[in-house]
Amino acid sequence: MGGYSFHVENVQICVIMVGLPARGKSLIAQKIVRYLTWLSVPAKCFNVGNYRRIETAQPTADFFDVNNPEGERLRKIAAEAAITDMFRWYEEDKGVVAILDATNTTKARRDWVLDLCRRRSVEPLFVESWCDDEDLIMQNIIDVKTTSPDYVGQDPEQAALDFRNRIRNYEKVYETIDDTDLTYVKLINVGSQVIINRIQSYLESRIVYYLMNLHIKPRCIWLSRHGESMFNVDGKIGGDSDLSPRGREYARQLPAITRKSVGDQPLTVWTSTLKRTQQTAKYLPYRQLTWKALDELDGGQCDGLTYEEIECRYPEDFAARDENKYEYRYPGGESYRDVVIRLEPIIMELERQENIMIVTHQAVLRCIYAYFMNVPQDQSPWMEVPLHTLIKLEPKAYGTEVTRMKADIPAVSTYREKGQSTLKK
Ligand code: SIN
Repeated sequence: MGGYSFHVENVQICVIMVGLPARGKSLIAQKIVRYLTWLSVPAKCFNVGNYRRIETAQPTADFFDVNNPEGERLRKIAAEAAITDMFRWYEEDKGVVAILDATNTTKARRDWVLDLCRRRSVEPLFVESWCDDEDLIMQNIIDVKTTSPDYVGQDPEQAALDFRNRIRNYEKVYETIDDTDLTYVKLINVGSQVIINRIQSYLESRIVYYLMNLHIKPRCIWLSRHGESMFNVDGKIGGDSDLSPRGREYARQLPAITRKSVGDQPLTVWTSTLKRTQQTAKYLPYRQLTWKALDELDGGQCDGLTYEEIECRYPEDFAARDENKYEYRYPGGESYRDVVIRLEPIIMELERQENIMIVTHQAVLRCIYAYFMNVPQDQSPWMEVPLHTLIKLEPKAYGTEVTRMKADIPAVSTYREKGQSTLKK
């Protein structure tokens, strides 16, 4: 087993970001990396600003003026260092998709990167973020002046002013992409219009499809496991059992817990097709949708057994699962990797939607959480996600904030530590 979920070609791609400062390029770049990594495609971002900061930590706007030769020289050195590391990564770490996160606003700069890529048979995919929506730009300026290392310790008003001047300096030389021989995606006001040109390969088309679904309106995602089920009480995995009395109590309390966090905002609730998630969502006064893709990881022949029974009947499988829980597939059932593949449309739809609450199962919730929180594959199947706990995810420009709200209703723990035997001594 192993390999990539949909990377079938022997191809290396360089996603070359293009756009003025404060157009959400870094956010888009990081999202592409997170999405591809979740799908097991080796992806990495190379941010030219980080390389530039090694020599010039807190430049003022005039550093970015085209008429400042010293600034030009240092910026070119930073770009060269990022690109050198990028090509080394393809070779030494078998990288597949690198993202060159820089402004690349002039045709000359893009031609230079293009030439370097072509010499190494790396496919260039330009992603331009073009934006004239003042609200989006303003939001980005606020984010940058509060989070960028370029302005740490500076007066926020002064920082905003300087950043605006930096943008003006870039505007003087900015040339949008219009060469129809190039492979590119132009995102206009993130999500409102997308122009695509000469997409070459399957992997490129997956990246483009993902970009087409992005929006950056503020919104939240709430995640909950179903309430405690009768199978949970009996220590059995899988099945389609009803909620236990304590699980039903969680279902009754869930609307109040949700309302406290959601307030009056609109919300849609997604459940799986299994009874325990639908019984948990029963009292939630919001629109509800059922997804087969949200059903629990299929335990195959082990469905309906306790961990103890699995350890007795299938000792080798029990040990193999501990060895590599992400890849391990129950006989006739699924692995975590299989679940991630079937969740891809869910992630795509989540990117398109606004406030969503998902009531689902332990393994599925771990996979969704891993996507938003960038949890590595060797850790995600071991994450603790207790019953009777509502998790709120709030995507922000530079990461996702998490809040956990625990209901005061006891429940069994369904967590089994790696290497822990379940057999009674
Ligand atoms: C930077 O130095 O912050 C970015 C350099 C660039 O891509 O223009």
